[in-house]
Amino acid sequence: MTRSLWIDAAGLPRTIDQTLLPFATREISLDSRQACAEAIRTMRVRGAPLIGAVGAYGLALALRADPGDDALESACAGLLATRPTAVNLRWALERVRERVAGLPPAQRAAAAWAECAAICDEDVACNRVIGGHAARLLLAAREADGERALNVLTHCNAGRIATIDEGTALAAVYRLQRDGVPVHVWVDETRPRNQGAGLTAWELAQRGIPHTVIADNAGGLLMQRGQVDAVIVGCDRVAANGDVANKIGTYLKALAARDADVPFFVACPLASIDPGAPHGDAIEIEYRDPREITHVQGFDDEAGAMRALRIVPEGTVALNPGFDITPARLVTALVTERGVVSASREGIATLLAGTSPDR
Ligand code: MRU
Repeated sequence: MTRSLWIDAAGLPRTIDQTLLPFATREISLDSRQACAEAIRTMRVRGAPLIGAVGAYGLALALRADPGDDALESACAGLLATRPTAVNLRWALERVRERVAGLPPAQRAAAAWAECAAICDEDVACNRVIGGHAARLLLAAREADGERALNVLTHCNAGRIATIDEGTALAAVYRLQRDGVPVHVWVDETRPRNQGAGLTAWELAQRGIPHTVIADNAGGLLMQRGQVDAVIVGCDRVAANGDVANKIGTYLKALAARDADVPFFVACPLASIDPGAPHGDAIEIEYRDPREITHVQGFDDEAGAMRALRIVPEGTVALNPGFDITPARLVTALVTERGVVSASREGIATLLAGTSPDR
């Protein structure tokens, strides 16, 4: 597997079921709009850029089945409803819809398919550029004390499997590795779904990158003790003022980073910016099944199967917001494929105007 979403011998999109990682690597075929929608809803695929690409393929597959106007609209609406926070889904669906809407129905499926392929190729290219910019910032954050490893902390998984390839936040780590810079990653476990412990640790191990999984609550101490040079995370949506929606717990890391004087970077493809959201309060937060809080999911080695174990008294009420908002003032910089900008209205406006970024 090179990319996390590829076209198989049957001409259909194929991916890895991330709900089984790191315990099993099972490929799934995304052979219909329904299969794409189900994969996003159940988080077999997750991570904002990958959600967008799979949504786009879902629309292309829907158009193969019925290229009419009604089908186009209902497929867009159905796919958009699968997960609410990552704006990349809406971005990708709108991109495909705009590409095909003016075409005769007979030409729509092929055009949509080509657009999906372009979205995937551009994602890889964009992430490589982000990785280069972010690697430079991370290096600058290392105190000038010789050859010791650069210590980076990350939350959730903004790596290869959250994108088509490379990742956004982790693209920087892969770039540093290619450049021969010794790097070590503190991996927040990222309760409740443990994308850090399960997915980030898995993908860093595949690349031979030294890493240590920590409880979500440990990062503050490590930052106070000088064990973190910089924090870098991905994002699901960035508002027009630079507020950042990302996996629940990101905000607390940003607060700790500010208090400990540790730089806090957000890897942010342009597709994750929502100019229609004036600030973070306007971003819809996904609330997920409380069972993700009341139970932990893991692999039972003896039974050879996944198991859910309850960790609260029976009947306990739980609340499960999937994302939080990090205010722009806590973000050191947004790292995009157009360069590095401040998390601010001015920074975002510069990016969207396509003019040179401020750093
Ligand atoms: O709920 P998830 O696993 O889809 O959340 C993923 C994140 O929060 C990532 O940090 C974000 O999507 C960026 S992925 C490049």
